[in-house]
Amino acid sequence: MTKKILVLPGDGIGPEIMTEAVKVLDRLRADGLSIEMERGHIGGAGYDAAGKPLPDETLRLAREADAVLLGAVGGPQYDTLPRESRPERGLLGIRSALGLFSNLRPALLYPQLVHASTLKPEVVSGLDIMIVRELTGSIYFGQPRGIRTREDGVREGFNTMIYSEPEIERIARSAFDIAMKRDRKLCSVDKANVLEVSELWREVVVRVAKDYPQVELSHMYVDNAAMQLVRAPKQFDVMVTDNMFGDILSDAASMLTGSIGMLPSASLDANGKGMYEPIHGSAPDIAGKGMANPMATILSVAMLLRYTLNEAAMAERIEAAASKVLDQGLRTADIYTEGTTKVGTAQMGDAIVAAL
Ligand code: IPM
Ligand code: MG
Repeated sequence: MTKKILVLPGDGIGPEIMTEAVKVLDRLRADGLSIEMERGHIGGAGYDAAGKPLPDETLRLAREADAVLLGAVGGPQYDTLPRESRPERGLLGIRSALGLFSNLRPALLYPQLVHASTLKPEVVSGLDIMIVRELTGSIYFGQPRGIRTREDGVREGFNTMIYSEPEIERIARSAFDIAMKRDRKLCSVDKANVLEVSELWREVVVRVAKDYPQVELSHMYVDNAAMQLVRAPKQFDVMVTDNMFGDILSDAASMLTGSIGMLPSASLDANGKGMYEPIHGSAPDIAGKGMANPMATILSVAMLLRYTLNEAAMAERIEAAASKVLDQGLRTADIYTEGTTKVGTAQMGDAIVAAL
């Protein structure tokens, strides 16, 4: 059956990197992959086209699709809009509306890029971590939230960090399932020494662990986890954590691999439907210059094939092609090191298609 993919380029470098990812999908389609692609607007592009960051039409198409491929959202021209009209709201809105609670963020170091990392080669070589970030709860969505003026005239801002037991349980199961397919080591990251919400998190994770006796479970406070990620990152296999902790730790982990421009992600619902996007942002400073790295988006296509379309062999073909262009010495500016060949966005995309 033909699968439907909704393509949402978004803002900044989003359209440029998406053009390259679509080239890859077109190539696979020519090889027999049965897909249909639709396009929609999100983020600032949604605001420009329909007056809101998540237009109704986009959400309708997203609900109909089997998978969504997203570029990036955000730009300085939208920073002064009221909060509900800002691009980020479109992204948070679609994650929430589609119930995409399980966000997989792999930090995998390609051996060819070992010198692109700011960390010493011996610290990062062989690195392969999967961060499982809870994506639809906690302080990002918790109520009440706002900015208010107290009786004494002082203004205060407030948010609510909240998780229900079922929310913790389903993300824990998702992480244990992934650990079972990898090295069977899971580290749950929380702040249980200070926060009640983390105390419950830990209790539920420990309970779920009883169903996964083969997985070695450990717990770490988030501050220590941040330190361990830059001190000795290879100790980790799978990490599972809260929405905000995962946002922060995954950016840190990305730099271990040389560049945030390399890292894809998958955001999955309870039935394997997913949204796939690079973990980097819209990079307005380099938008339109043809110098962005399309690899994170192209590797997101590989995740889409693996997790939603169950086309593992095609996913591996993309990953092998990405590795091959690195072997050829091709590098976008973010991963460039002396002795390699600097290429632009389109050249990199074309080289990956050729390597397919
Ligand atoms: C991410 C981003 C988003 C987040 C922003 C753009 C809302 O940083 O996907 O990591 O905080 O989740
Ligand atoms: Mg982030």
